[in-house]
This record gives sequence, structure tokens and C-alpha cells, in this order.
Amino acid sequence: MAGLIPIVHTEGESNTSAARRDWLAKSIGPNSAPLLQRDSDAFLHQSLSTPCAATIARAEGIWIEDLDGRRFMDFHGNSVHHIGYGHPRLKAAIAAQMDALPFAPRRFTNEPAVALAEKLAEIAPGDLGKTLFTTGGSDAVEVALKIARAATGRFKTVSFWDAFHGAGMGAASVGGEATFRSHIAGPLVPGAEHVAPFACYRCPYNHAGPDVCGLACAKMVEYVLEREGDVAAVIAEPMRAVPYVPPPGFWTAVRAACDRHGALLIFDEIPTGLGKTGRMFAFEHDEVIPDIAVLGKALGGGILPIAACIARRDLDVCGDFAIGHYTHEKNPVTARAALTTLEIIDDENLVERSAELGDYAMACLRDRLDGCAIVGDIRGRGLMIGVEIVQDREGKTPGNALAEGIYYACLDAGLSFKISQGCVLTLSPPLTIARADLDRALGIVIGAILAAV
Ligand SMILES: Cc1ncc(COP(=O)(O)O)c(C=O)c1O
Repeated sequence: MAGLIPIVHTEGESNTSAARRDWLAKSIGPNSAPLLQRDSDAFLHQSLSTPCAATIARAEGIWIEDLDGRRFMDFHGNSVHHIGYGHPRLKAAIAAQMDALPFAPRRFTNEPAVALAEKLAEIAPGDLGKTLFTTGGSDAVEVALKIARAATGRFKTVSFWDAFHGAGMGAASVGGEATFRSHIAGPLVPGAEHVAPFACYRCPYNHAGPDVCGLACAKMVEYVLEREGDVAAVIAEPMRAVPYVPPPGFWTAVRAACDRHGALLIFDEIPTGLGKTGRMFAFEHDEVIPDIAVLGKALGGGILPIAACIARRDLDVCGDFAIGHYTHEKNPVTARAALTTLEIIDDENLVERSAELGDYAMACLRDRLDGCAIVGDIRGRGLMIGVEIVQDREGKTPGNALAEGIYYACLDAGLSFKISQGCVLTLSPPLTIARADLDRALGIVIGAILAAV
């Protein structure tokens, strides 16, 4: 029975660990406990959600608050909260749109949906100019894969082990995490080939670093493209949200390999897009333009669900088929939420702010944790930052239990984030965060790390 097989969770911290049980027993308040129990009784259990860690009664700006009045700065937010929770301008725009036009059946186009598609074509570089909307990111990934099949006449894909692209069958097939694809999940979509990802701190090819590796990870992408000979697309996050920054030259090499072998390049920007990394699209750091880009999460401003698949204009080749025929494909309210979110990001200079605050936070972490015996690596771009906890810096032994202890200490001190890959404290605050709040959060996480040594 699949339930007996132990799964190592890489996307977030375990919701069944002893540390979770201890923390719940010690920390959950009298109003939260009954709701957690009802949640557990009412929902199908799955890793990374039910059983839950806490309750939430309010969400505003960078803050979430539980039913007992405990407040946490939210440095995770499922990557939806770039503009902070409940931005007043967004709430007003959504309310006005609900009054003006609450829904549009697909055969009837409408102003906000068209304006949003036009806006995305304007902000996306190169010839990325034709869009389909979906309700969630996983579905937008499916649309991208279908376009790649139609445009190339091929069906195979190359993607990264350890990646997450969504919970749907196609997205789980190109994803590379056991939690989503192994044991109970198969059989998966055929032709979904995988390669080891860029991960310089723990290079899967065992190289010491980008200076000496000759970009082995990029070469392996080309190796597979060449051996297979008929790959439709390479799909990946341009910066991995775990987080991992690509080594210099990685994406230029992969872009050239795709061109040589007739494969499209699809970038999944669902967590990294819209300014999180200090550029509007994370791939702009690497001076490469994909054939298809997928956005989601923060596009709905942290209130409504909307995602987008934006393709090169000449990839509009599926006119006789239905590749993204979703009920809320042109929902005027979700489209208005996305349009207003883009306006807020622009008007409040949030992309530049993310770059500046990210540089500041990174410098602060590097300075204060310099030489710390359990900090193996500090990395990131903009406001997507990871601190990798190890048992020993020499051996780089993952410090999963230490990371979990630090995580719960931070929760107790009022800071919420998630752990990636078992031992990476993943810090991803809203781009609207005030400098003083950022300082306070950094103080909490640095204090918890130093106390754990
Ligand atoms: C890189 C990436 N792709 C796709 C998805 C799936 O998005 P959704 O949960 O909206 O389906 C996620 C969600 O976490 C993600 O991080």
C-alpha cells in the first residue's frame, strides 16, 4: 500500500513530523484547536496542507493572524502576496468590477480580459504576445505543453528533477518531486524526460562550482535533446524557487541547444514572475527570451486565482482545437484583479523595490551569519532568498531537523515561511514590505539560527 512508503517532502516542511506535533501541542490556542480538528475531519489529508499548522482569521499587508490573535509576518504566502494581502486599491477595483460585469461566458469577450492580454503582451519581452488565461498555474502549464506539441508535432519534454510545475497530470509528469509524481500518481504522461537541475551548492554532477564545471548541467540538457532527437519543449523555472539561481551562461546555453534541436523553451514564472526576483520576469536576469512564459499566483493580487500562458505570436497554431477551454477563461473580475495588480506593481515601483530590499537582506544575512557553523549557503535574487541549514559546513550534511527547529522558533517569534528541500529556509516576503519589518524578520530568523548552533 502506497501509504506505507515513506516519502521525502521537498516542496515544504512535513505536516506529520514529530516537530510539528510538538509545536501544535505547545503553541496552538484555544480558538484555533477546534478549527484545526474540523479541518482535519473535513478535508482529505495530503502532504503540505491538511493536517494544517495553524488557523488564519485575518490577512493584511505582510501580516496573517490566527483565531487566537497571534500575528505572523508571512514570508511565504504561497507566492501570491507580492502587493501584500488585501491591497485597498485592488479590493476597490474588484468590487467595482463585480458591479459592472461579474462574469462572461467564453463566447462573449469583455474589456478587462482583452486589456489584460494586451498588457501582458506589452510587458513581456520579445514576441511573447498571445495569451490564454486559466484559473490556476498547473492548468496554464498544461496549455503551454499542448501548444508545444501542436507547434512542433512532437510530444516529449525535458524538465528538471526536483521541479514543481503543478498538481495536474501533465504538470506532475514534467515535475520532478516524488510527492507529486511517484507511487500513487502514475502512470504519468509519456515522454516526460528529466535531467538533474542546476544546483551549484549541491551540484548533482559533483563539481565544485560554476568556475570549473564547464556548465555540465546545461550540457546534459543538450545531450538529452540530441539523443532523443524529437523533444517538443524544455520546461523549467528560470530561477528555481527553492531557491537556486542559475549559473552564469546556463540559460544562454540551453536556449541555443533548444534552437539547434527544434525544441521550444517554456519558462514557468509562476512563483518568480512579476518582480519577485527584482526583475519583472526572472528570465530577464539571464538575457534569454523563452517561446512561452507561464505566470500565475501573484497575478491575481493575492485575492483571486488567475494564471496566464503567454506564447510567441507565431505559436498561435491551435485554432481548430480547444487547448485551454476553462470556465473562467475570460472572467472579467479575475482579469480586473490582474490588471490592477500590474498597475500597483508599476505605480509603487515594486520591481525596483524588490531588487533593492533583496540586495539589502542578502547583505545583512551574509554579514550576520558569516562563518555560522550550520549555515551552508545563502542565495537568491530579489525577495526570494534561501538560507541552507547544514549539520556541518565541510560535509554539507543537510540539517533537516535543525531547520525544522529554527522554523518553529521563528513561528513562535511571529515569522512564518516555508522550508524547501528539507533544509532550506525560504524567505519570500511581499514586495511592499517596510524596511523596519524586514529588519525585524531578519532579526528573528538570524537569532533563531544562531540559537540553534
Ligand atoms: C513553479 C510552479 N509552477 C506551477 C505551480 C502550480 O500553480 P497552481 O498551484 O496555481 O496550480 C506552482 C505552485 O506552487 C509553482 O510553484
